[in-house]
Amino acid sequence: METVDVLIKNANELVTLKGKNKQRIKKEMSNLGIISNGSIAVKDGKIIDIGKDLRYRAERVIDAKKKTILPGFIDPHTHLVFAGSREFELDMKLKGLTYMDILKQGGGIVYTVNKTRKASNVTLLEESKTRLDNMLKYGTTTCEGKSGYGLNTESELKILKVQKKLNDIHPIDIVSTFLGAHAVPNDYKTNDYVDLIIDEMIPKVRNLASYCDVFCEKGVFTVSQSRKILKIGKSYGLIPKIHADEIVDTGGAALAAEVGAISADHLLMANDNGLKNMAYKGIIGVMLPGTPFSLMMKNYAPARKMIDMGIPIAIATDLNPNCWTENMQFIIQLACLNMKMTPAEAICAATFNAACAIGFNDKVGSLEKGKQADLIILDCPNHKYIPYHFGINLVDIVIKKGKIIIDSSTKLKNS
Ligand code: NIG
Ligand code: FE
Repeated sequence: METVDVLIKNANELVTLKGKNKQRIKKEMSNLGIISNGSIAVKDGKIIDIGKDLRYRAERVIDAKKKTILPGFIDPHTHLVFAGSREFELDMKLKGLTYMDILKQGGGIVYTVNKTRKASNVTLLEESKTRLDNMLKYGTTTCEGKSGYGLNTESELKILKVQKKLNDIHPIDIVSTFLGAHAVPNDYKTNDYVDLIIDEMIPKVRNLASYCDVFCEKGVFTVSQSRKILKIGKSYGLIPKIHADEIVDTGGAALAAEVGAISADHLLMANDNGLKNMAYKGIIGVMLPGTPFSLMMKNYAPARKMIDMGIPIAIATDLNPNCWTENMQFIIQLACLNMKMTPAEAICAATFNAACAIGFNDKVGSLEKGKQADLIILDCPNHKYIPYHFGINLVDIVIKKGKIIIDSSTKLKNS
């Protein structure tokens, strides 16, 4: 009998997400490939077998009776590396100030930029590492991280270098996005800043990032400025992503389709024509329901409509100082309760489609033979519990590249 590193047995639900290796749309999003009473065998960091009643000798056997196994969550949109915090903004929001009002008063992104520019590499690394530790505890095993709180060449490079270091030292795999076009620094006119991004920043960050993102929004970067940045980025090998149509419909969704972005994110206000173009090109819509939640907005992105139109949907935290959560379980809860996605759709969006949104679907996002053994064991009998039993951490065990990184499954002893 072959010996494996870890054998997990008897899971009430083993949620595999097995299926085509391409972003899932419409009904495909509901097909979770569940094996009841499932087992999974892990060796050398990979899944070597998956099914029912597997027989292997194992260094470590885990009994997952009454539990649910999922692929580790993938968080495809975070602003991981920043310094400081903005808890004081809640009082401003409660007085009725909007996100843009706070930004114009020197709060918001600009406030965090000042803190981040002043922070040493060590401080930035430590503060961001704590966030990664939280992510892991809540079941995230892969994430994307954006720069964007530097807004000058030196500080944008500092952020991306810190992120590279975090990727080296932390179990979570991080893919980097250059978001120099996150806001316009106070001492610049927008067009001059766009030139700085194009002429100086993009050539210097090209080896530190895989994606290039733009906050395409009224009062920030126009569609034509965004197009310019994304096209130049693409010529340097950076795949486009867009913060699109979050507050006002400026045509960001259509731009995503035009430039061949891997994803367009937010999309609360996107028009039908832009969404149709996205569906046609298979561009992933990344929904970030934590953001309207933290801004106490009534409206969420029309995820149901987008699924019906055939847009592949992923979900993410948008982790940033305005929307500070590392918890993808909470995002699944918001996706279901406030965007009317089904539990199955939300789980597909937080795992396989999220992997597609950062180009990691060959390696992770589903539990299949030969894939990286990134998986989580939840203390609940089925996947429908994730949006149902909310406000607690359901994750018991986190396995990353075949290693048990978190184990909080030990029951409290009666004293
Ligand atoms: O995705 N919208 C732009 N950027 C972030 C917010 C950043 C911040 O407020 O610090 C977002 O929501
Ligand atoms: Fe964002």
